[in-house]
Amino acid sequence: MEPSIIVHGGAGRWDPEEAESALEGLGAAAETARAILSRGGSALDAVVAAVVLLEDDVLFNAGTGSALNLAGEAEMDASVMDGRTLAAGAVGAIKGVRNPVLVARRVMESTDHVMLAGEGAGRFARAMGFPPYDPVTPRRRVDHLEKLEALAREGPGEQGTLRGLLEKYPGLACGTVGAVALDQHGALAAATSTGGITLKLPGRVGDTPIPGAGTYATSAAAASATGHGETILRLLASRHACDRVAGGATAQQASDEAIAALAPHGGHAGIIVVDAAGRIGVAHDTDFMPHAHCGVGGAGITARTRTAR
Ligand code: GLY
Repeated sequence: MEPSIIVHGGAGRWDPEEAESALEGLGAAAETARAILSRGGSALDAVVAAVVLLEDDVLFNAGTGSALNLAGEAEMDASVMDGRTLAAGAVGAIKGVRNPVLVARRVMESTDHVMLAGEGAGRFARAMGFPPYDPVTPRRRVDHLEKLEALAREGPGEQGTLRGLLEKYPGLACGTVGAVALDQHGALAAATSTGGITLKLPGRVGDTPIPGAGTYATSAAAASATGHGETILRLLASRHACDRVAGGATAQQASDEAIAALAPHGGHAGIIVVDAAGRIGVAHDTDFMPHAHCGVGGAGITARTRTAR
């Protein structure tokens, strides 16, 4: 079976030049995953390797360079899911680690649980040998201060809600990284990682670590979502897309439908999907969602800042 991989760097309001720059990192992540898949490696190994590279790239809102919460801390969410077994692992609001996706995988493989959050997730990471690490970059620190000042000047959004805040400052919602893959053996997997929304309340957990919301994988499809986490959580966008593929939709139809279902609830999201034949789907209702894929048929890496359609 011909393997397939697609990665995204987050749906949102990107500066067009930064969105172009993001394609380099996304292409490298897709290439790394492709190399693993082409030597017979698992979809799970491929998506985790791709997400680790994106977490380590300061351009993306995940791992190093994560967006900061209201208290100026990087609290990160990540998850992995193996479509062969429905095994899933996740961390929510974890601090002080370099690669949350690796901790999420460890939760899946070394515990009886699906998700660990907050201080417990951090303690687990230390116990598993992940060293202390500060993922906060100088650029994010400056960005955080600028947004705090803007907020202090103009007050919160409508009714003081996060949604109101996002409507007023669309730049607050920026990014998540994710990868979905099919391997030579027919297995599907998904992985997603994020710093979440800038100025979120401390302790807020978004869609990214929740199976069915930000990440999902079955024997039919794998999906990774990005964008406004609360909306994706309510509609379980990734599960929705995988179920639609199982019901006969193409990966592209399932992606389009998952994003369309979010629209009446505020939208601001994107999704990538791969099915059991290696066909991919990409949809977003935001200006940009940089992504890169290597499709079936031996084609090279294709990288775009938004969907071509
Ligand atoms: N989709 C990422 C978040 O809302 O945290």
